[in-house]
Amino acid sequence: MRTLPANDGLHSAEAFHAEYLRNFFLLADRADKNGSEIADALRGKVIATVFEEPSTRTRLSFESAALKLGAGVITVADPRTSSHTKGESLRDSARTVGGYADLIVWRHPHDGASRLAAQFSGLPVINGGDGRLGHPSQTLVDLYTLYKDWGSFEGKTVGILGDLLHGRTARSLAWGLSLVGARIVILPSPGLAWEEGLERRLLDRSRYRLRRVRHPLFLAWSGKEEAQMFEPRDLRQADLFPSHVPDLEKLDALYLTRLQKERGATSKQGAYAGIQIHQLKDPLIKDALILHPLPRCEELPVAVDDAPGARYFEQTRLGPVVRKALFLSLLGPEKFSLPTLTPLPVGDPDAALGPCPNRNCISAGEDIPVPWRVEGHSFRHFLCAFCDTALPVEYAGCRSTRRLHPIHSPSVMRILPENLRPFLERNEAQKEGYVWTEA
Ligand code: NCD
Repeated sequence: MRTLPANDGLHSAEAFHAEYLRNFFLLADRADKNGSEIADALRGKVIATVFEEPSTRTRLSFESAALKLGAGVITVADPRTSSHTKGESLRDSARTVGGYADLIVWRHPHDGASRLAAQFSGLPVINGGDGRLGHPSQTLVDLYTLYKDWGSFEGKTVGILGDLLHGRTARSLAWGLSLVGARIVILPSPGLAWEEGLERRLLDRSRYRLRRVRHPLFLAWSGKEEAQMFEPRDLRQADLFPSHVPDLEKLDALYLTRLQKERGATSKQGAYAGIQIHQLKDPLIKDALILHPLPRCEELPVAVDDAPGARYFEQTRLGPVVRKALFLSLLGPEKFSLPTLTPLPVGDPDAALGPCPNRNCISAGEDIPVPWRVEGHSFRHFLCAFCDTALPVEYAGCRSTRRLHPIHSPSVMRILPENLRPFLERNEAQKEGYVWTEA
């Protein structure tokens, strides 16, 4: 089993880990001071920003960061000016831009685009937002903003509110928070909850558990008084088997997101989860930091701007700081390097598993076989290596014993990931000489 190169940029917040984040925050502190050690650190480098969806903060903060480090910038700021509108594939665009720059920041409407762009450009690519999948540099901004206030995430509880189904910043933040040990309260607007698979993967990867908590404000936001809370498994035993669903006393931060209309999101009966100014008096959020990746719509009234906990313009201020640190870590001298991100193993490309079921996956229309990866401590989950969508694998064989098992059989958990050979159908496996066993 190969692994995707760990230094091929930044595609997903899943690849962060506690040590990376600790070191990243220290590097961001250095970037915030803007001392002479970083001025001109990237002189002679060219950074390309290719934005195939609208952006104000993300693109400009990346470009500001690049210029402050002495790098040159080339850009596609308006998708209508790129060859994508003439029908060019991302593969061909990536190959082309790969010859013009040293690093690319790519924003794209399709899930998994940044991984494909890195593969075909041969350069480090930073995901500037891909479809509804992820926005990891925004997560670094969000986490760094919280870190500046808190110093540590231990014991902190963060509510994530709004369009969780389509919002890439919320999805990435959940991964990020699960790596620093914070509790996460999931507050989807009605009808806009995450797909089930994501929660399962988060639980499995982070060694978190799920618990229900309640609060009257949740009813106004999510249409239910109860919400799911992710928390580290090693919390107090007394909390493990609560006989009732406890009230949540307070949130340390509340992260709001807008309804992602451009991704087809609609709010049920026009109601979309947001805060109202009078709710800021409620003990649940009275002292909470209020974050939002912006742009905002009605979910975050302007009147909240004066609240002591409002941090969204601090997030925008920290955007270029965080992006300076990212550039330094990926392109700068050795003294700025960070611990390697967690590599995501990718399965054998010959074992094609058919098209990805996600119609918004970048593989659709790019005419390339879908690479897969496998993960799971407590189950084996086969995913599209571009967009993380579960693939409909029904059988798994072991390459060394040539025995074939149904996917849910406990025997599959005993096969080393590098020996796993997934199949969609039994007869394909039998053609390759795998022998069927019931367990
Ligand atoms: C977000 C994005 O584009 O995903 N904005 C941002 O990058 N600051 C959030 C959004 O558009 O809602």
